Amino acid sequence: MNTRVLTGITTSGTPHLGNFAGAIRPAIQASLRPGVDAFFFLADYHALIKCDDPARISRSRIEIAATWLAAGLDPERVTFYRQSDIPEIPELCWMLTCVTAKGLMNRAHAYKAAVDQNLAKGGEPDDGISMGLFSYPVLMAADILMFNANRVPVGRDQAQHLEMARDIAQRFNHLYGRGGDYFVLPEVQIDEEVATLPGLDGRKMSKSYDNTIPLFEGGAKATADAVMRIVTDSHKPGEPKNAADSALYTIYRAFAPREASERFRRDLEEGLGWGDAKTQLCKRIETELGPLRERYAHLMANPGYIEDALQAGAEKARRLSAPTMERLREAVGLVRGGAATVTGRVAKPAARHARFVSFRDEAGGFRFRLIAADGAQLMLSRAFDDPKEAGGVMRRLQHHAIAAFRDEQGGAVMVTVDDTPVGQFDSALRERVREALANLGGKPS
Ligand code: TRP
Repeated sequence: MNTRVLTGITTSGTPHLGNFAGAIRPAIQASLRPGVDAFFFLADYHALIKCDDPARISRSRIEIAATWLAAGLDPERVTFYRQSDIPEIPELCWMLTCVTAKGLMNRAHAYKAAVDQNLAKGGEPDDGISMGLFSYPVLMAADILMFNANRVPVGRDQAQHLEMARDIAQRFNHLYGRGGDYFVLPEVQIDEEVATLPGLDGRKMSKSYDNTIPLFEGGAKATADAVMRIVTDSHKPGEPKNAADSALYTIYRAFAPREASERFRRDLEEGLGWGDAKTQLCKRIETELGPLRERYAHLMANPGYIEDALQAGAEKARRLSAPTMERLREAVGLVRGGAATVTGRVAKPAARHARFVSFRDEAGGFRFRLIAADGAQLMLSRAFDDPKEAGGVMRRLQHHAIAAFRDEQGGAVMVTVDDTPVGQFDSALRERVREALANLGGKPS
């Protein structure tokens, strides 16, 4: 079985040079490896969370699709589609929403950051926060689980969303699994090797810093104009430059074979002027991007071609999502033609749940253990002075699945709630603890 690798690109901007070197190019290279089935999609429903300008949304969808195709994505090989062309995704999103603890969403970094910003301004915590932003991780889980992706390459800021997708998948499997699992648990893939390009001011190139160098939009001239604005130090031509500290060199390296980069570095150290260096960098980028730029211009002039490729991709994707959704509808009891085919839970042996068991330790502290459905002991809490406090922690763990895990030295994992340690377990039990917390039943005993 091939590994399914899936990733989404939010369509709310225009790709820049940093996106190309850091995400687009490595993703396309990865899609060419044997044993990989790649799913790349335009996350245009996600774009609606951030942007209410229809012109920008529709423009960005085309630009991003054209960019990936021009950069060498092979739509025959990769399943390349638009999220909004797959009606099963929002349908699954709703099913997942119904099994997702609200408390889990309260913990999402993006939501918490928005609340913190509001509070810092002296406003109401939820000012300007839509339900779209709040439940964004559920939509992302639906994107991933719909196609049972094994691996999801994303930036570090998205790692928590993958944890959440796994939690939600486990919860659904537990509720409806009946001896089989509906969803594969996806693994996050964070690529540390991949080039991060500096922007015009030397900080990481990012739209939010307004320091980007355009990739294709505006043509070679727009790219060159931006390169000319890269900040350099005040060393004159003829004076030796420190290449390692220079944004020019870092960008050059991302677009040149090793020998050419070495030569560029030596030239800088031997006094190449910044102006000449910029001219050389522009040439270098053009050598690499020129042919892609032509393809991009051609695609942008033929939006019908892009549309056809996306429609074909949607068809390919729906060949998987439609039958999967059929099974999922049946799993939850939404079957056409009445209830005759639903076997229901009656046949299911009474589900045994994971549970908490509390006790007093020898020193008189109040503690609890997390016990798996099969009776195995998974986690031990710290000692609480007050039984009410221990009870409160259990309730919060039970109803909101709000625990975060932190690896400690020596193979232990610390469980925290609101950044406060509440207990620990052996790292080998990580998946079992996660599953047990997602599947706690009944009241703490
Ligand atoms: N949220 C992701 C981002 O902002 C984009 C995205 C949406 C995504 N759905 C996804 C990434 C599913 C991976 C898998 O970068």
